[in-house]
Amino acid sequence: MTTAPSNQPLRVGVIGLGVGLAHLKAYAKMPDVQIMGLAGIEDDRRVQLGEDYNIPYLHRDYAELLAHDDIDAVSIAVPNALHAPISLAALNAGKHVLCEKPLARTGPEAEQIVQAAVQAKRVLQTVFNHRRRGDVEVLKRYVDQGSLGRIYHTKASWMRRRGIPSLGSWFTNKELAGGGPLIDLGVHMLDMALYLLGEPTALAVSAATYAELGPRGRGADNAGKQQVGSNYEVEDLATAFIRLADGGTLLLEASWATHGSAADDYGVTLYGTEGGGEIKVKNYSWEDTLRIYTDVADVPAEIRPEVRKVDGHLAVVRDFVQTIQSGNWSAHIGTEGLQRARIIDACYQSAQQGREVLLSGTASS
Ligand SMILES: NC(=O)c1ccc[n+]([C@@H]2O[C@H](COP(=O)([O-])OP(=O)(O)OC[C@H]3O[C@@H](n4cnc5c(N)ncnc54)[C@H](O)[C@@H]3O)[C@@H](O)[C@H]2O)c1
Repeated sequence: MTTAPSNQPLRVGVIGLGVGLAHLKAYAKMPDVQIMGLAGIEDDRRVQLGEDYNIPYLHRDYAELLAHDDIDAVSIAVPNALHAPISLAALNAGKHVLCEKPLARTGPEAEQIVQAAVQAKRVLQTVFNHRRRGDVEVLKRYVDQGSLGRIYHTKASWMRRRGIPSLGSWFTNKELAGGGPLIDLGVHMLDMALYLLGEPTALAVSAATYAELGPRGRGADNAGKQQVGSNYEVEDLATAFIRLADGGTLLLEASWATHGSAADDYGVTLYGTEGGGEIKVKNYSWEDTLRIYTDVADVPAEIRPEVRKVDGHLAVVRDFVQTIQSGNWSAHIGTEGLQRARIIDACYQSAQQGREVLLSGTASS
């Protein structure tokens, strides 16, 4: 779908008052955007943010926000179970949608949202802000130049020492979150790896999940997430071995709580025939995180490229706005969010069944 480029201000709404604030901040920095509406269930916070950002429409109920004809696009930053119903309602109301990760709890749920975007002829994008990092930007260029040769194995992980996002919150509730650290943190690292690798197709996964600390009330931070009085129903560690169609393999690990050295550390390692690349991020640092491994005059060498600091949410939101304003929408139907959701879904199935699962959905023998 292509329409004429627009130079009218884009009128946006934000649904969700947690990380939704990062969306508000980003939209507020863009001169060609008008923030028209905000929805969220914490009354005081909604009113305060409404004042801070001078927002005309403030609603507890997201449906009331979506009923405004003078809102063109919405950011959706609510518990994972609401991504599908709110995205579907928004797309059916003719809004463009920027949905927080994960696009949905399962592959079929994500598929429904993508279908709705296609039918509505509207932009659908998922927030993958960590791939916008300066180190990822440099490594991606290096990979695309062919400097690592053929990348045959990749490791991607996000591990925390004590980072369950609030015991009793929606994050630890299976129905509301869809899963634990794999769907929460692992989806970012899966995205980073697949993006760096040039979007290879995933063929099969073999995964295991564990819930060793959370159910015993251990490993939580005090992130102040929306409380729903939930028991601990999701994993606290997941590991997955993913076979890719290009013959490569990807090892993905995610944990909210571990007895290990990581405090809140994530990264990706690419092993190529001509070189290697490694991003190691400790506690969200951005400097000195990238290494390139190569041979110089037949001896091993390590390169430390300079990288810039990037505000990931700002970069994602700017892309969303520019995509809508360009009028060139057809490629933006949530495909990457859907692919990530299918792989994560297959990981949970594999963990439950205790065997490899093919991405077609059939378990291998
Ligand atoms: N990209 C990132 O770096 C990043 C970071 C944090 C969270 N997230 C994602 O953002 C989403 C929200 O996470 P969070 O950390 O902000 O959670 P949170 O608990 O801090 O906030 C959830 C928000 O959802 C709103 N909400 C709940 N039910 C609602 C309803 N029926 N109508 C309108 N609003 C409703 C609440 O008002 C609340 O403000 C999740 O999908 C999470 O995975 C992404």
